[in-house]
Amino acid sequence: MEASIINGTTIASDLRTSIAEEALSLTRRGTQPGLAVILVGEDPASVSYVTAKEKACDENGIYSREIRLPGDTSEKQLLDIIRDLNTDDQIHGILVQLPLPEHIHDEHIIEAISPEKDVDGFHPVSLGRMLQGQSTFLPCTPHGIIKILEAIEFSPSGKHVVILGRSNIVGKPLANMLLSKGKWGDATVTVCHSRTPNLKDHTIQADLLIAAVGRPKLVTEEMVKPGAVVIDVGTNRVPDESKKSGFRLVGDVDFDAVKKKAKAITPVPRGVGPLTITMLLFNTVQSAKNTLE
Ligand code: GUN
Repeated sequence: MEASIINGTTIASDLRTSIAEEALSLTRRGTQPGLAVILVGEDPASVSYVTAKEKACDENGIYSREIRLPGDTSEKQLLDIIRDLNTDDQIHGILVQLPLPEHIHDEHIIEAISPEKDVDGFHPVSLGRMLQGQSTFLPCTPHGIIKILEAIEFSPSGKHVVILGRSNIVGKPLANMLLSKGKWGDATVTVCHSRTPNLKDHTIQADLLIAAVGRPKLVTEEMVKPGAVVIDVGTNRVPDESKKSGFRLVGDVDFDAVKKKAKAITPVPRGVGPLTITMLLFNTVQSAKNTLE
């Protein structure tokens, strides 16, 4: 039997309805949630992500402030902008789109963002709180994946989860969330990466397989256990002359082959992507709420 195709757009849209309602209710109480989105340079993928984030804010009643800076902006200039935003009452969330140009250190920038406005969940304080199971802003892509699992009623408890990729943005925080105690955790988690030999020996054991590596078609049919749930976080741009943009987006999973074997699978696009942006909206609304408590 073919896998059911998980519709990330539908799951995201249900969540966005209640986020928009909360944003409206906060606005009526005098606190419209506000997000500052900072982009340094003109990397085409980053431009399109940032545009999508701003559009999602507009559609859901969240104020968004675009700050687009030239690629030669200095680290000091960027730090000064962040310090101003940290004390700006209209702004509840600060997002600096990564990757940054090489002359700017990501960690200096992330640490300059006030943890109270760290809606990406990348600040060491947010990550430390998450590791200890305290309430905090959760990183958006892993949190979005948990929301997908909730929507398809897949409880990871007692299951074997294999994650491909150990990034700070996806692999590492996701491993922690799935490992934590609780309904959407309690899994046995294996994290594989570029130095893992014999990848298939691990992936074939996965009840839930999550690919977040950035390599088209890395996951092939023979690497997947029959009946597994497969979540594809890859967003790889491959040249495609037939498209107006000149490229199409593909994931890390050989979708057409793997869907014959899996129980459920996310497509690319319209799988994980819409959830990532949704959880950013969720965190921004939460941050605005926190200022009233
Ligand atoms: N670059 C790729 N994903 C992300 C993300 O979730 N947040 C930020 N700030 N940059 C990214």
